[in-house]
This record gives sequence, structure tokens and C-alpha cells, in this order.
Amino acid sequence: MMSERFAELSPSEFFYRNKELAGYTNPSRSLYSSFRELLENSLDACELHRITPDIYVRLSLEEKKSDTTGIYRLRVQDNGSGVPGKEVLKAFGRVFYSSKYVFRQSRGTFGLGGTMALLYGQITTNIPIRVVTSIGKERIFSYRFLIDIEKNLPNVVERHSHPNKNRWRGTIVEVALLGNYPRISHMMIAYLKQTAAVAPYAEFKFADPSGRLFFFRRTTREVPKPPRVAKPHPHGVDVEALKKLIRDADPGMTMLQFLCDRFHRVGVRTARKFLRFANVEFDTPVGELEMKQIMQLSERMQNFSSFLPPNPDILSPIGRKIFEEGIIKEYEPDFLRVVIRPSSSYLGHSFVIESALGYGGKIPGDAGDIRLYRYANKIPLLFDEGSDVSLKIVNGINWGYYKRPMDGPVAFFVHLCSTRIPFRSLGKEFIADVPEVEREIKASVRELLRSLSTFTRRIEKRKGLTRRLELYRRYLPKIAEFSTKLAGREEEPDIGPLLRKVKKRHAK
Ligand SMILES: Nc1ncnc2c1ncn2[C@@H]1O[C@H](COP(=O)(O)OP(=O)(O)OP(=O)(O)O)[C@@H](O)[C@H]1O
Ligand SMILES: [Mg+2]
Repeated sequence: MMSERFAELSPSEFFYRNKELAGYTNPSRSLYSSFRELLENSLDACELHRITPDIYVRLSLEEKKSDTTGIYRLRVQDNGSGVPGKEVLKAFGRVFYSSKYVFRQSRGTFGLGGTMALLYGQITTNIPIRVVTSIGKERIFSYRFLIDIEKNLPNVVERHSHPNKNRWRGTIVEVALLGNYPRISHMMIAYLKQTAAVAPYAEFKFADPSGRLFFFRRTTREVPKPPRVAKPHPHGVDVEALKKLIRDADPGMTMLQFLCDRFHRVGVRTARKFLRFANVEFDTPVGELEMKQIMQLSERMQNFSSFLPPNPDILSPIGRKIFEEGIIKEYEPDFLRVVIRPSSSYLGHSFVIESALGYGGKIPGDAGDIRLYRYANKIPLLFDEGSDVSLKIVNGINWGYYKRPMDGPVAFFVHLCSTRIPFRSLGKEFIADVPEVEREIKASVRELLRSLSTFTRRIEKRKGLTRRLELYRRYLPKIAEFSTKLAGREEEPDIGPLLRKVKKRHAK
């Protein structure tokens, strides 16, 4: 029997071999994924620092490969935080290097997206990636590099740094990649439109390969308060995470101090109560805990019901005003209602569901259509709708209970914002049906439907009155004429007051 050869894979090589996992399946979908990953990085770089985003995306065709595919140059420029000089190569040239591995709400989570876009570009064109960035201080850094896939390290082709006289701050990322724009353009534009609907404070310009410029103007300068980094909540900590927290702590720290200092929402009273529940002395030094005790502690943490829920203040929801503003800006609906649910939590992560329902106006679709726009931490999710928890809820609506106007399409907007989105794939396209999340979405959808029913009743009533008014207008003069003749009178009665009375009711 032949002996097996064993080898190790670097993270870059793993994703190089399994690009599909991160949403890089074919030239059109890969172009879309690259575009959105770079854009999301830009938005994070602005919003996490409360900067009003100005984002400019340019896509140009460099070389035609077939009727629809070609080598494209994708360039994304932002006015975000910029990347410190010493971090640039690691942030962009390594898979699993991120500033977002903390308990904080952000679009990025994996430390993979942007780098994968660059990696995909490299493997389809072998053209070095270009990054220009500055944090607004003395120097601007500019790099051209390839990624050494085997070593998961950048291979620098060119590097410069020059004085930053105007104190420019931001990042430009440029990548050449194999793509199919004609096939995916509608999705890229939909992505921008749906992003603009939840970020009316951002300005997007997109110059496409055919010379069209898509411009999404901002209508407000109000950027939501940025999310805050939180400590881990005890309900979200498993044995491994607990071991790491213990390793990072001073071994002489007492268990009481450790719990109060290293966990989210654990004060002295809760910590004491928990330690009694877990049968651990308050002053046990963390360094003296044995493996068996750590395992027991972790299990007890999950079962202790008196921890306070995570604080929703650390989140950065869209907020009613901005949400309404964005939807009105992009879709001008005839009816709009936004519902913000109270915050809730799952596995130690707080989350908030913000939902909206729009009807008519410029919502795309035919009369009677029902659309669903899904968002996770302000990212529009355009693919794999069929597997998403929100679709399950919207499809499950019993329209027998609710009324809806049938003259235009109805759109649901469901936004989940959380320190951790339960994505079911690295491509970040759909949300798993976590029971707590499902319950909140359901509750918000019900509330929206109740408002829609009230609105529908109101317009039906109005329609009925309009019809009646029309009838009166048409027949009352005739009735007045005949009855005058019948009564043998000369003068017809004045029907004006009667019509005015009906009209007044109609206006209510
Ligand atoms: N435009 C940008 N401005 C500032 N920093 C950026 C920008 N793009 C990337 N970065 C930095 O590079 C890091 C890596 O980006 P990458 O997209 O690979 O991962 P991520 O955004 O952390 O997670 P995800 O895989 O979910 O996108 C980011 O965490 C961020 O610190
Ligand atoms: Mg990212």
C-alpha cells in the first residue's frame, strides 16, 4: 500500500483552493464579491470613525476575453480612516489579518473579504495589487504587491511613501481581475442602491465600463453613532474563549476581579452570585484554576440565568430617522412605516431588528408584488435569499389576516444589527434561523403588517367615498331636475351644501 503524504495548507492557499466558500464562483459573481468587499471595507473605515463616507468606484475594461468576460480594473477610493503604514501589507496581503476581531458591530468580520478580492484578482490576471493610503498624517503610503499564496504573505513589487501636504486621508485599492460585468451589472447597481437606502449620509459615485456614472447623493450629514468595542458576554464564552481570557489575565488576579474586569455587564454583585452558583471561592487566583474547573466554569456560565443581557448601547443601528430618510430618498414610497424592536440577545451577542415596510411610489415591481430587502449590519444581502430566515417569515405571512393595497408593490426591509451576525457562509449572504432573531423579525413584520392594514382600510374607505361622491355628482342634479318638475316647482333646490357635506367627510 502506498503511504499517504501529509502537508499543511496556509490560509491563503486554502481559500485559493476553495474560492467558492467566500463567494468567488464565476467571473460575474467574483466581480460582484470583489466590488462589495472593497466597498464594505471603505464604509467600515468611515462609519467606525463617524466619517461621512465619500466613495468613488471605477470599473474599466482592460482587455476583452470573450463576448462578456474580460480583464477589468476595479478601483475603490474612500475618505475613511486610512491604514497605518506598518499595517498596510498585513491588512491587504494576508488572509485572516483584521482590525475587526473584536466584539463590535461592523460590516467586516472574518479578516478575509478584501484580501480574497485581491487574491482572486491575482490568480486570474497575475497583475500586482495597488494600495494607496494615509491616515491623514505626514505621509502617504503606496504599495504594489502580489500575495505569496503558500506563505500567506505579501510579495512587494513596489513601495513608496511621499509627503502628505494636503493631509489627505483615505484609501485607494486597485485590482485587476477577470469579470463579467454585463451579467452582473444589475446586481452591482442594486447593491449600491440598497446600500444608499440605509446610508443616506454616504455619497457613492460609480463609473462603469460603458462610461455611465451612477451617482447616489447624500441627503443628510448625520452618521449614526459608531458602535463600541465590548468585552465578551459570559453567555457567548465557550471553554476555548475562557481559556484564552484566563491566559491573557494576570495569574494572581482573583476570580472576582477577573469576572468584573474581563466580561461585559458583570458587576461585583453578579460576579459574587455567579461564583457562589459555580462553587468557586471569590479569591481563587485565576492562574490556579485547573482544566477541569475551567470546563465546569464555562458550563456554569451558560446555565447561569442572572447575567444582565448585553448592553445594546454598543450597537450602531440605522435609527428611525435615517432609515426613513434613506428609503424615501431611494424609493419614494406612498406609504412607509419603520419599526425598531427593543434590543435582544443570542449567545451573548446583542442585536436589534429594524424593519420597514414601503408601498407604491418607486418601489420596483408590479402591483401586488411583495419584495424583501435584507440587511445585516447595513450590508444588503442580494444572493441566496431562499435560505434566509427573513424570507421564511415573509413567505409565511397569512394575508388572510392582513389587508394590503393591490395597486402597487409592497417592500419589506429587514435589518439585523449585531456584534455577531449568524451568517451561514463566508460569502455573507444569508442569515441563519437563530430562534431569538427569528422571533424578533416575526414580531416586527407583524407590527408592520398591522400598520399596512390600517393604511389599506383608510385608502379603501377613501376610495368608497370618492365613488359615492362621483355618483352624487352625476345623479343629484338629475334627481333635483326631475323632482322639481314632478313637484311642479319653478326653482330647483340647491344641491351644493349636500355635495360639500359629502366632500368634507371624504377629506377626513
Ligand atoms: N478601505 C480601507 N480603509 C481602512 N482599512 C481597511 C480598508 N480596507 C481594509 N482595511 C483593513 O484591512 C483589514 C482586512 O480587511 P478584510 O476585508 O480582508 O477583512 P475584514 O474587513 O476585517 O473582514 P471580512 O472578511 O468580513 O471583510 C480590515 O480589518 C481593515 O483593518
Ligand atoms: Mg472586509
